[in-house]
Amino acid sequence: ITALIVIVSALMSYFTWISDWPIGLIPAGDPAPSTDFLFKFLGIVASWIFNIVTIYTIYFAIVFRRPNDAPASAIGVQIHDQPVLEFWWTVIPTILVVILAIFSVKIWSDIQNTQGDVLTVEAIGYQFGFQFRYPKLAQPVTGIMHLPLNTPTTIHVTSRDVLHGFWIPEMRIKADMVPGLVNTLRVTPTKAGTYRIICTEFCGDGHGLMKTQVVVENQQDFAKWFHQQGGTAGAGGGSSAAIALGAGKADAGQALFGQKCSACHSVGPYAQKLVGPGLGQIFSDSAHPKLVNGADPTPQNVAMILKNGYQGDLGIMPSSQVNQISNTDIANLVAYLVSLSKK
Ligand code: CUA
Repeated sequence: ITALIVIVSALMSYFTWISDWPIGLIPAGDPAPSTDFLFKFLGIVASWIFNIVTIYTIYFAIVFRRPNDAPASAIGVQIHDQPVLEFWWTVIPTILVVILAIFSVKIWSDIQNTQGDVLTVEAIGYQFGFQFRYPKLAQPVTGIMHLPLNTPTTIHVTSRDVLHGFWIPEMRIKADMVPGLVNTLRVTPTKAGTYRIICTEFCGDGHGLMKTQVVVENQQDFAKWFHQQGGTAGAGGGSSAAIALGAGKADAGQALFGQKCSACHSVGPYAQKLVGPGLGQIFSDSAHPKLVNGADPTPQNVAMILKNGYQGDLGIMPSSQVNQISNTDIANLVAYLVSLSKK
């Protein structure tokens, strides 16, 4: 039995150690190798304990089962006072827990340590999206986070409304986004690419859609992007190129509105507010002659808000990048809103 336990546990340990684990999540940031090591180490310790307990339990249940000729009320031999056994089953788990604690504290302090901070980013959660600010930029950057490769980065995360979660699986970093509290994460991106950022706290009916991306790029590309952000007023990159609205289809826009907009906007009058204002009479509501950003309520101006988003005293509207709305989609949505205003 002991040989069986050793063989099974050794095999499980071996495959845990060599596996590309956690499966499918390539490590893309600096805490990843050490957290993955801790994960595998825990898995190996757990597999030995699991096998010792379950295999012996099964073995004892078979070998020491009640004989067929014994009465149903028969009980086994009662054993008391085994100081040697009691000593070891106290000492061994204690040693294991202390070893795990030492590894965990070491790795945790490595993650928390500043390594000559180069970049600071603020990540703010809201229903239902993420906003990123770089303290050296006057304007907040909506939607997608950019990080330079191999640069130690501090990310301050917080929330504007309710509890959210900030998780980049490939970098093995995760923190709660709590209104009124700033949590700090440290990461050094080690692999260029685009990775997911996911909200991990149930935060309302848009929770499942609350995700965005982090773009890790080389220093030159990051500097170029950073320069572009600094050079534009307005949020989300602030494109002001007009969008062709002529081919917009109201019925396609209606379907899209149900998927992308209806969590936050009703199709009632402006005052019929959910998270944002009602959009059913956005072009004809004389009580609200201006859009949220102060522009006139023309189809083109509404399209620009859909494209660039809005951030200000009256709230936040994520940009089309965050909402993954193409220019064609914008044209369809505007056509739908125009058709509503005519009714
Ligand atoms: Cu934010 Cu879930």
